[in-house]
Amino acid sequence: MIIASNFKTNHTRISTKEFLEKIPQTPLQIRIFPPFTTFDNYNLPKNTLLGAQNFYPVENGAFTGEIGKEQLDEFGLNCVLIGHSERRNVLNEAESLIIEKFNFAKKCGWEIIYCVGEPINIREEGEAAVNEYLKKQLEKIDLNYEKLIIAYEPVWAIGTGLSATLEQIKATHSEIKKLSRAPLLYGGSVNVDTILNIVNLNECDGVLIGSASWKIEPFLKMIEIVNNNKKGVI
Ligand code: PGA
Repeated sequence: MIIASNFKTNHTRISTKEFLEKIPQTPLQIRIFPPFTTFDNYNLPKNTLLGAQNFYPVENGAFTGEIGKEQLDEFGLNCVLIGHSERRNVLNEAESLIIEKFNFAKKCGWEIIYCVGEPINIREEGEAAVNEYLKKQLEKIDLNYEKLIIAYEPVWAIGTGLSATLEQIKATHSEIKKLSRAPLLYGGSVNVDTILNIVNLNECDGVLIGSASWKIEPFLKMIEIVNNNKKGVI
């Protein structure tokens, strides 16, 4: 079971260090994606990895404002987020760059959390439209890559407090599982009240959490809830 926290543009070096020091030893796989400026060689519990919210698919070079493999290597980071809806929709990251990032990360042997999800107008068209949309988002990457984790994150559920329903998650996860055997997460307004029912869905292998994970107390609470109740380790 994977519990991932995406800090987005939150936390400083000091608050990240304080946060990480409180993460317990647990059989769950914990992933934390803090801002680049907080990267450091922390002493983390087993099963807890730091990852990069973004990177440019190069070793190094002239790409103002970006970081490449050389910068991640310095901190031993080998886990990345790709295709997050804020990168796709707010930062206008093109599908072609997303695919390039996937292929580069795969070549590096990094663990990839690959995010897909439909906008509200597609959800309103119904299940078939959602499935078609997600299939397109997944068709250009290697779905058999052994370090791939897929996160289903409906765009309309991210940061809105409006989670997809259990039925919607279940139905969409089933469709994605037909395409790939990669571990499958759900993300989009997961919080202390909703996490248990979500992770207990048959085909759910974990969650990617934004806002509800930015304070350490609810994050620890969610780890505890899953730890005490869930299917165990994957
Ligand atoms: P949220 O963010 O939990 O605040 O909806 C999830 C995400 O962006 O991965």
